[in-house]
Amino acid sequence: MTDFLKALKTTDLPINSMKQVKLNSVVLALYNIGGKIFATSDICTHEKCHLSDGFLTGNIVECPCHGGRFDIETGEVKALPPTIPLPTYKTRVNGEYIEIAV
Ligand code: FES
Repeated sequence: MTDFLKALKTTDLPINSMKQVKLNSVVLALYNIGGKIFATSDICTHEKCHLSDGFLTGNIVECPCHGGRFDIETGEVKALPPTIPLPTYKTRVNGEYIEIAV
């Protein structure tokens, strides 16, 4: 069974925003897309830039360093230079908290 850990309050992640959170030594990016919560690694698989410093358009995050793009729902690479998919994590809302399975 997967353990879900409290990441932050739902009010700390407004709709259509993203934020970096560290849980269990894992650096995550959390996203609120129209009220749906997603979580990926915050570390770009190209050269380790923080995706939460980048740009969010719909369910695509663009890395601020070289413009690589990932689908935040699946982790799939949508634009080079990255070639390795982004790890994704299960999320849930429990009361007033967003929880992540890390
Ligand atoms: S570090 Fe993200 S595209 Fe290069």
